[in-house]
Amino acid sequence: MDLTKFYNWRYATKKFDSSKNISKKEMEILKESIRLSPTSYGLQLFKVFIIEDENLKSKLKKVSYNQSQISDSSALFVFCNFTKVKESDINDFIKLKSSIQGIELSTLNKYGDFLKSTLLNKPENETAVWTANQVYIALGNLMTSCAALKIDSCPIEGFQSEKYNTILGLKNMNSAVIAAVGYRSSEDESQNENKVRKKSNSLFYHI
Ligand SMILES: Cc1cc2nc3c(=O)[nH]c(=O)nc-3n(C[C@H](O)[C@H](O)[C@H](O)COP(=O)(O)O)c2cc1C
Repeated sequence: MDLTKFYNWRYATKKFDSSKNISKKEMEILKESIRLSPTSYGLQLFKVFIIEDENLKSKLKKVSYNQSQISDSSALFVFCNFTKVKESDINDFIKLKSSIQGIELSTLNKYGDFLKSTLLNKPENETAVWTANQVYIALGNLMTSCAALKIDSCPIEGFQSEKYNTILGLKNMNSAVIAAVGYRSSEDESQNENKVRKKSNSLFYHI
């Protein structure tokens, strides 16, 4: 498997072919790429809205600077990070860990207390930055998985997140970043452009 090929094939698609949709089977693989992404302590403090409804997509396009990817893609993945950590998030995680790994709940209590003392006292603005950072890891995995399946994608931060929060009815969550996924239009000029990237020797220092 030549991973570099995938990275070169992928580009931020500007024009999708709105007549092509991703199959259900491939959608499940893309969802797994997000579900299996690593998160801090494994807490997965985010939700992802997958929007295929055309009416909702057109509504969202209006608060996304009219970017056509919003309406023409097959699906929009809206990554929404939690802005608050609740005690129940930690309790749920500890219970899940106990049942999946077959560990007695009582053995995990101390770890749960540690997570609570560390995370529940964090100021809200710090929590929101910390959880938002983590959705970008899942976004990266999603885009690479798309490329491996020859599915196109465009990461999007050009949208009004407060308006998204209202439209999607979010509580204690913030829409952080979007991935529009689907199939490129043959008319998308961007696919023919050379990648603009710094040379390796100005990015990496081997010590
Ligand atoms: C976090 C993030 C936000 C982005 N937001 C937008 C966006 O709102 N609209 C858009 O057309 N491209 C957006 N892009 C795409 C970048 O402009 C693009 O990835 C970059 O120019 C490199 O080009 P390439 O991905 O085609 O190689 C975004 C990329 C990232 C990583």
